[in-house]
Amino acid sequence: MEGALIARDRVGVQDFVLLDSHTSEAAFLNNLRKRYQENLIYTYIGTLLVSVNPYKELDIYTVTQMQLYRGVNFFELPPHLYAIADNAYRVMCSEYNNHFILISGESGAGKTEASKKILQYYAVTCPTTEQLQVVRDRLLLSNPVLEAFGNAKTLRNDNSSRFGKYMDIQFDFKGAPVGGHILSYLIEKSRVVHQNHGERNFHIFYQLLEGGEKDLLCWLGLERNPQKYAYLVQGRCAKVFSINDKNDWKIVRKAFSIIDFTEKDLEHLFGIVASVLHLGNIQFEEDSNGHAIIRNGTQIKWISKVLSPLNVDLAFYARDAVAKAIYGRTFTWLVNKINGSLANKVGSLSGTVIGLLDIYGFEVLDTNSFEQFCINYCNEKLQQLLIEMTLKAEQEEYEMEGIEWEPIPYFNNKIICDLVEQKHKGIISILDEECLRPGEATDLSFLEKLEEKVGDHAHFVTRKLADQKTRKSIDWVDFRLLHYAGEVTYCAVGDFSLMVFQVLCNSKNGIVRDCFLLSELDSRRRPETVATQFKNSLMSLIEILMSKEPSYIRCIKPNENKEPGKFDDCLIRHQVKYLGLMEHLRVRRAGFAYRRKYEHFLRRYKSLCPATWPHWHGPAAEGVERLIKHIGYKPEEYKLGRTKIFIRFPKTLFATEDAFEIRKHLLGMIPACWRGVLARKEAKKRTWAVQIIRKFIQGFINRKKPLCPENVEFVRLVQYKYLMKLRDHIPRNVLDKSWLQPPSILEEISEMLQKMCIRNLVRKYCRGVTPERKVQLQQKAVTSAIFRGKKEGYQQSINLPFADTRLSEEVLILAPYSQYATPVVKYDRNGFKARERLLVLTQSSAYVVEMAKIKQKIDYATLKGISTSNLGDGIVVMHVPEDNKQKGDVILQCEHIFEMVTKLCMLANKQNLVKVVKGSLRFRIGSGKEGTMVFTVGPEPHVFKAKDGQLTVVRLKLCLHSRS
Ligand SMILES: Nc1ncnc2c1ncn2[C@@H]1O[C@H](COP(=O)(O)OP(=O)(O)OP(=O)(O)O)[C@@H](O)[C@H]1O
Ligand SMILES: [Mg+2]
Repeated sequence: MEGALIARDRVGVQDFVLLDSHTSEAAFLNNLRKRYQENLIYTYIGTLLVSVNPYKELDIYTVTQMQLYRGVNFFELPPHLYAIADNAYRVMCSEYNNHFILISGESGAGKTEASKKILQYYAVTCPTTEQLQVVRDRLLLSNPVLEAFGNAKTLRNDNSSRFGKYMDIQFDFKGAPVGGHILSYLIEKSRVVHQNHGERNFHIFYQLLEGGEKDLLCWLGLERNPQKYAYLVQGRCAKVFSINDKNDWKIVRKAFSIIDFTEKDLEHLFGIVASVLHLGNIQFEEDSNGHAIIRNGTQIKWISKVLSPLNVDLAFYARDAVAKAIYGRTFTWLVNKINGSLANKVGSLSGTVIGLLDIYGFEVLDTNSFEQFCINYCNEKLQQLLIEMTLKAEQEEYEMEGIEWEPIPYFNNKIICDLVEQKHKGIISILDEECLRPGEATDLSFLEKLEEKVGDHAHFVTRKLADQKTRKSIDWVDFRLLHYAGEVTYCAVGDFSLMVFQVLCNSKNGIVRDCFLLSELDSRRRPETVATQFKNSLMSLIEILMSKEPSYIRCIKPNENKEPGKFDDCLIRHQVKYLGLMEHLRVRRAGFAYRRKYEHFLRRYKSLCPATWPHWHGPAAEGVERLIKHIGYKPEEYKLGRTKIFIRFPKTLFATEDAFEIRKHLLGMIPACWRGVLARKEAKKRTWAVQIIRKFIQGFINRKKPLCPENVEFVRLVQYKYLMKLRDHIPRNVLDKSWLQPPSILEEISEMLQKMCIRNLVRKYCRGVTPERKVQLQQKAVTSAIFRGKKEGYQQSINLPFADTRLSEEVLILAPYSQYATPVVKYDRNGFKARERLLVLTQSSAYVVEMAKIKQKIDYATLKGISTSNLGDGIVVMHVPEDNKQKGDVILQCEHIFEMVTKLCMLANKQNLVKVVKGSLRFRIGSGKEGTMVFTVGPEPHVFKAKDGQLTVVRLKLCLHSRS
């Protein structure tokens, strides 16, 4: 609510308690008008809601709106029906107590619409289950049925409820609606037989004739034409533009099926509706004795008999009375039947209820009869209830808050209620007495009795009792009551007339008697008159309401023409008075205009005091105390309760609100400045980004050019990115040949880097190599140079390390000089016999040794060549020069051929002399002779002298693996 205080000049205040001149009716109307013109139809008086009928569809009843109000604190949102409904519901759920919402106002003010909207609100927002959907539908659909039978077009409202309705919505402990119950009050039966010009009978008659299926009408003996029925033509407006009877009939039929009416029920019901119409068409004539007889229609002649001995006037009256009674009782039956269907069949029994009371407002017509008397009496009672409950609530709140109670001056209308209802002395008692008194009674005897018994009451006047001035305005048959809402003059004849009651009571017709409660006159117990019945039902209604927590909605009709936007001051002033709004406001405002929980007050206004802004860490009450001290509240302006602050005058609150607005404006500037700084920063960043992007596009276009201002940054970035990436993909060892593909502008650099990288890896590798390994590698390098790709078995030998020697030292006589030794097989030059020998290499010579005996010595200096075959046969030939000492070339076979040849040629420094031959080789045998050695492949390895005298070396066919 506080939120809208700002706009108060335009839209007024949302709560009348904030009006400065709360006793001024003009100020009240002014506020209501301002709001109405802005389509703000709801305004609070504390927790009471005043609603002005907009007479147009407003966009404030959507599901979104419903969700908005759901579970929100009452004062946080603009006034709304939903806030009232939600508040009642929430308190019911949290405190587990019963509630009622009293909706009042004059005809056409929007009571029924309000009650339907509240029902819809509960239907949409309350938790439900699939099972409970049925209950929900029945609650909603009971309305069209009740409206069809209980509503009618009047001059003031095209859908006027002609009965009072109290509906309990029953909730289970989870807050889900599980059932309902309806009480109806005082259905306007007179409408069944008579309607004023421009008004209609109850909707159901027209709906049946318009929408009823042909067969049904035929069965009921009805014609599809309202003009044919005396009870439907008096108002001369059977057809109304704003009412679609045909469509409404469909809705009602559907509703009947949902609320559990059987076809039989409906047959009976429509049978009664039809019979009322037929009854209305009965005409009486006088017979020779002056008694009423029916001439047209033989079937119903009996009616004249049973009504006998009535004269024609009384017979018509009796006919109408029967029709009214039938309709009235049928309506009661209908309500009971609906209650059966709404009964809680699913939920727990011990739930809570919210009652909706849609009841006629105070009514003053040109001629006011018994009906207006009852209505106005009802309003007196409800006004009393409202005042009492509001006062009680105020008093309780003061007490709870520990604030001293200050008596509130207000008009207590109990005195008027007593005038009507007091036992023996009240108007109803007097009426009862007159009704039930045997013997002749006249209209005026009742009036006389009233004058006699209540003549001295300050709120009762008749022509006889009135002073000179007033007398003129009261007829001889009238009495006037001074109600809380104003004076109403009632006509004591007509409905009040006792004579007819008496006559009907005396009728011989039991059925007719049955329809009238006075027929019970004969029984021993004193029967109840309609007035007493109404009084009792009102008493029990008050009792029902007293046990519940109240909420109030007061509906106001803005003009007589059902026109949107038109605010008729005079009409509304009347209603404000009749609805007791000024009285209510006075009670609400008597003490304090405004009260709020400390937490709420502090949350809103904390920025007004340095001690509470931006945060107050102590108790909220203390914070509020500091705050109001700081802003200078005077002691008479406020009171501090236990949980709330009470502010006496609206102007105090408005001054606080204005200060808050200014403060908010200032506070609002800080964020605005900060937002400016941020925005500028952001803009700067964007400009920079645009420049960078532009520069890089230029750089990309010119990337292949030599380094220049256009591409330098781009190239640098590309370099940087490539190098950073390369850092993570650099080869980690000499054997890793991978290299990150460079962008084209970096190819040259990348190549250099790769070389550097490899060199570095190699250097690193070399540094890590031991002297022994170095020797090995040197030897392997020599082996590779000689044999790679030339001799079988080389590839397999690479990974096998060379040994220093293949013999143990002990058996070696040349041990001190030996550089290398290995077992070999030596083939004789003559006969090529194979002999086991050792080959020992020293620094200068190679020795062929048998056991400890040197068989042959070859100086390296004399070594002419070293031959091997290209096959894996292990044969090596050392060619020596021809002299006496030498016996010829040495033919050896060695298991470690690569190792042996490498060591030999290295020691002899004759790497160049090593030959790898294919097919055959020539060797010297000695004494000038030469032999041939042939290398071949066969099924098994073999070295032998062939028939042609050649030394034949056979290597295994598949693959002979030389082991080194
Ligand atoms: N909140 C609303 N928004 C729009 N139109 C409304 C609203 N309330 C009422 N009306 C209009 O006013 C008409 C009369 O309202 P409603 O029938 O509720 O009056 P009532 O107070 O129940 O009158 P009665 O005492 O005759 O039954 C409705 O038919 C509808 O056209
Ligand atoms: Mg109504």
